[in-house]
Amino acid sequence: MSDNRPIGVFDSGIGGITVLKALRAHLPHENLVYLGDMARLPYGTKSADTVTAYSLQTTKHLLTHDVKMIVIACNTASSVALAPLQAALAPLPVIGVIEPGAEAAVAATKSNHIAVIATEATVRVGAYVRAIHARNPDAHVVQEPCGLFVTLAEEGWVSGDVVEATARRYLTPLFKRKAAPDTLVLACTHFPVLAKTIRKVVGRGVRLVDSAETTARAVEAALDIQGLCTKRRGRGTVKFLTTDSVDRFSRVGGIFFGEVIRPKDVELVDLQFS
Ligand code: DGL
Repeated sequence: MSDNRPIGVFDSGIGGITVLKALRAHLPHENLVYLGDMARLPYGTKSADTVTAYSLQTTKHLLTHDVKMIVIACNTASSVALAPLQAALAPLPVIGVIEPGAEAAVAATKSNHIAVIATEATVRVGAYVRAIHARNPDAHVVQEPCGLFVTLAEEGWVSGDVVEATARRYLTPLFKRKAAPDTLVLACTHFPVLAKTIRKVVGRGVRLVDSAETTARAVEAALDIQGLCTKRRGRGTVKFLTTDSVDRFSRVGGIFFGEVIRPKDVELVDLQFS
C-alpha cells in the first residue's frame, strides 16, 4: 500500500522550518506542505484560547491540500492545542513536538537536571515539565522564557554581539546554580538557528536538545505503524504557504531551511476565507 498524500506541517511563522528540514532529511520521498502563519506571529505571547483557535484555522486550511497527517511544528501550539486538534481531526493523526522533545531530553541527561527555554506561553503551561516528569519523575526541570530569541531569529540575526549578550542575560542565571543543568532543551522552533551562540554561552559540557530530529523520527514511526508511507521512489516535493510577508518568508525561511526559498515558490493564503 502506498499513500502519496502530503504531510501537512504548520508553525506560527518560519521557525518550524527547522522541523520541516528534519522531516525532509528523514522522509525524503514524502511530499510536504508547510504553512507559516506569519500574519499572526508570534503565538508565544498569546493566550491558549487564541493559539488554539489559530491552530484550528491553519489545520483547516492544510486539510484543503488533502494531507494524511498534521505535524504541529510549533512548541507553543503543541503545548496548548495538541489535544483539541487531535479531537477535532480524528482519525487524522496529529503529532506535536513536545513529547519527542521530552523523550530526547530524558535520554540525554545524566545528572537529571534539565533546563527548558521556550516562549512565554510554553513556559506558562508547563507542557515540557509534565512530559519530562511523565518519563522521569526524579528529573529537576527549570524553565526560562526567552522571547527575544524569537525576534532575533526572525530578524535573521543568528550570531554576533547582540545575540550573545541576549543569550548571556537569559542563560547565565540558569547555569550559575549549584546543581547546574547538564541538558538544555531548545523548546522553541526558532532557537536551533541560534545554537552556536547558545553553545558558546552555556559551554561544551551541556547537551543541547532540539525536538526537530526526534519529531521527525516520531512522524516516521507513526506513518509506518498506520500504513501511511509513500512508496514513491523519487524525491518528494515541498510546498510553502504563508499568511503574510512572502519576501520575508523566503529570505529568512532560507536560513532555517538551509536552502534557497524563492519568493515565487511561496504561496500567500488567506485563512479567513479558506
Ligand atoms: N513557533 C513558536 C514556538 O515554537 C515560536 C514563535 C512564536 O512565538 O510564535 O513556540
